[in-house]
Amino acid sequence: MNASPFPLEPGPAELEAHTRAVAEFVLAHVASLGEQPSFDLDGIEAVRASFREAVPEAGRPLGELLGRLAPAIAKSYNTAGPGYLAYIPGGGVYASALADFIATATNRYVGVTQAAPALAQIEGTAVAWLCTLMGLPAGSRGILTSGGSLSNFSAIVAARHERLGESFQDGSIYFSGETHHCVTKAARLAGFPRASLRELPTDARRRLVPAALDAAIRDDRSRGRRPFLVVANVGTTNTGAVDPLPEVVRIAREHGLWVHADAAYGGFFRLAPGGEALLRGIEDCDSITLDPHKGLFLPYGLGALLVRDGGALARAHRESASYVQDVTAEGSLGFADLSPELSRDFRGLRLWLPLMLHGVTAFREQLAEKLSLARWAYESLRDDPRFEMLDEPQLSVVAFRLRGTAEEADRLGPELLQRVNARRRVFLSSTRIDSRYVLRLCVLSFRTHEDRVRDAVEALREGARTLLG
Ligand SMILES: Cc1ncc(COP(=O)(O)O)c(C=O)c1O
Repeated sequence: MNASPFPLEPGPAELEAHTRAVAEFVLAHVASLGEQPSFDLDGIEAVRASFREAVPEAGRPLGELLGRLAPAIAKSYNTAGPGYLAYIPGGGVYASALADFIATATNRYVGVTQAAPALAQIEGTAVAWLCTLMGLPAGSRGILTSGGSLSNFSAIVAARHERLGESFQDGSIYFSGETHHCVTKAARLAGFPRASLRELPTDARRRLVPAALDAAIRDDRSRGRRPFLVVANVGTTNTGAVDPLPEVVRIAREHGLWVHADAAYGGFFRLAPGGEALLRGIEDCDSITLDPHKGLFLPYGLGALLVRDGGALARAHRESASYVQDVTAEGSLGFADLSPELSRDFRGLRLWLPLMLHGVTAFREQLAEKLSLARWAYESLRDDPRFEMLDEPQLSVVAFRLRGTAEEADRLGPELLQRVNARRRVFLSSTRIDSRYVLRLCVLSFRTHEDRVRDAVEALREGARTLLG
């Protein structure tokens, strides 16, 4: 192969060889996902240690580097495999990887519209699709972020700017005790003191209690505070609980609060048959966090924030500078005007390409399958006297514990989890609810089908039989 005089500009033959080598490497990995163990950390310390190294002065052959990457990928949780039922699974639809390859190889700039108007339109259109799918009206707009945490951050900043202005330390934010911890983190990053954070109780199904919201707002008002934002859960991480959105929206409207839906996990279930009724009220929220890297099965690194009054995003984020005068046309808003970021990847393509290539129906079908698999797992475990179910699945999380005394169930629960995961066919995770140990199984990967959920349920039942007799 002819070596280029400029190593950072390999010639066409070398580029092609590199591209083929990477494609072969990735395709072999993806093809074997179903047979790979659900996790494998055996010998990880040695693999990890092999990457503690000095910066290389001279380059190494790609084949050698891919050879080193293989064990680093293998020694991990198989988060892309069908057996991943822990936390909130993602998946990694392959079309997004192709999109990332195109986006980074062409390296166009989409932060300002003028630099690549049609590519910015692709991203704008993909975001507009999300607004439509969530039932938001014309005038809504949004941004793509790296994930739900940063979407929630920008939502809080936008709500703060709209409802409180420059001075906001006396503002109050309401959310249930089941809310994801990235919401309180985002509130702190947005400048709010702990005193602004008002955690509210949940009902037996772990949903925010509307009467408690109303009472807390009135109480805070009477003490001179400024209630301005309620964050409602559309699928909690613990159990998939959906807060009563219509009542939350009604109370928020009565008191002039902004309603933000953290639908990072649950929002895309609106696409499944019956999903609009399941998530009724999401369309009335002021802003919505979605995580396409969860409910649309895309690779990690893609969140979205949708805002009903699209102007609010610009009012909260827009700044100007003379050195961008050539690319800032009066009246036109680029993504940099709507979000904290300026330079960034062309992430719209990783959403647009899979939706275009597969069509939304393929995603609707997958989401419907996840709901029914979770329902099936719930019913199978519920019918086994060794399990105590926390709730019927509101979405695709099944939460349960072993029956018996609290001491026994809390002691044997981790052992059951360890036994089931040790088979390396599936991977489940646990949580604590009301200080009690709880196992959870979350069905969300597009690669998870009936066989793997059946495998998980059988392993749980067998493990429970061994532990409880
Ligand atoms: C309900 C909910 N909100 C927000 C987040 C944070 O999203 P991300 O991890 O994409 O930042 C998560 C993550 O699991 C979540 O489950």
